[in-house]
Amino acid sequence: MPVITNIEDLRVLAKQRIPRMFYEYVDCGSWTESTYHANSDDFKRIKLRQRVAINMENRSTASTMIGQKVAMPVALAPTGLTGMLCADGEIKAALAAKKFGVPFTLSTMSICAIEDVAKATGGHPFWFQLYVMRDRDFIERLIDRAKAAKCSALMLTLDLQIIGQRHKDIKNGLSAPPKLTLPNILNMMTKPRWGLGMLGTPRRGFGNIIGHVKGIETMGTLSEWTAKQFDPALNWGDVEWIKKRWGGPLILKGIQDVEDARIAVSSGADALIVSNHGGRQLDGAPSSIAALPAIVEAVGKQIEVHMDGGIRSGQDVLKARALGARGTYIGRAFNYGVGALGEQGVAKALQIIHKELDLTMAFCGHTQIDRVDSGVLLPGSYAF
Ligand code: GLV
Repeated sequence: MPVITNIEDLRVLAKQRIPRMFYEYVDCGSWTESTYHANSDDFKRIKLRQRVAINMENRSTASTMIGQKVAMPVALAPTGLTGMLCADGEIKAALAAKKFGVPFTLSTMSICAIEDVAKATGGHPFWFQLYVMRDRDFIERLIDRAKAAKCSALMLTLDLQIIGQRHKDIKNGLSAPPKLTLPNILNMMTKPRWGLGMLGTPRRGFGNIIGHVKGIETMGTLSEWTAKQFDPALNWGDVEWIKKRWGGPLILKGIQDVEDARIAVSSGADALIVSNHGGRQLDGAPSSIAALPAIVEAVGKQIEVHMDGGIRSGQDVLKARALGARGTYIGRAFNYGVGALGEQGVAKALQIIHKELDLTMAFCGHTQIDRVDSGVLLPGSYAF
């Protein structure tokens, strides 16, 4: 077993351990993948200011996101198919997040159902992410199921009415459960650990959907299925009824533009997430960290601004926080943990990021994450 000291180590191990189609689903962006890569490349361009001879004792990364206490301002992003990276992957990630004290967000497109995650986490609140599908009765029931499971926030994704083309998923014929084509079977045979785990769980399809929507018992490939089910007519009017039906804290995910951010404020949401869906939707869009400052400047006093996209280290979290993101999300970084080592891998990803955040904050002369501002950044290194 290799010594794991950073997120890249988890990625390498996950790649060895899970079937290619699921690894590539995580590790891909749309079309040329330029936005996917810009998300992390732009973080590297931002430079930190080292400060010395400042008392670094008694440090704390504790903060809040939408008024809820977090051990560090890092939540687990909603990611589809996490339960195909290892058996019961969402339950394992939710347990690791609960133990660490950060929010876990369950995706509509998860393998484990809302009710199963709620049962496994013993009622500890998690967040639920909603995709709006054409069948609005199903969406109403899904919101009600999230309420019944005592989810403590609803995250509405606004940037996936249609799906960005991901070449790898199409080539791999991505579906859950996987289609048993000869290349898939041959590839899965090289992943015995994964296969044994999967044989031991009944959860191998979309737990929130299959059996809850008339006519959907199985799916074709992910891209064909999404094109048929997701509602391309979703608009701001829908945000209103969803907010009303839900009645709790609402987070809007997928904002890239200042004008949309202003509409998000007037929708009455509690937070917005500056996000380009991990570079999986509009290829050619700016990185999230580049889009963040203008949105914070425009609406940061009226709504909590969060961000995701490209975070692979605690240094990245500090930079996002310095540029005004109250909260950040990791998606791939924790998925690599799930694929590499299950619950232990997610715990490892959180520990790695926490340690990096804590030490980087100290190197920059701060002991409290809540006091960090753009003063930790080298002026000029974050103008995109
Ligand atoms: C779904 O959220 C995806 O990006 O595949």
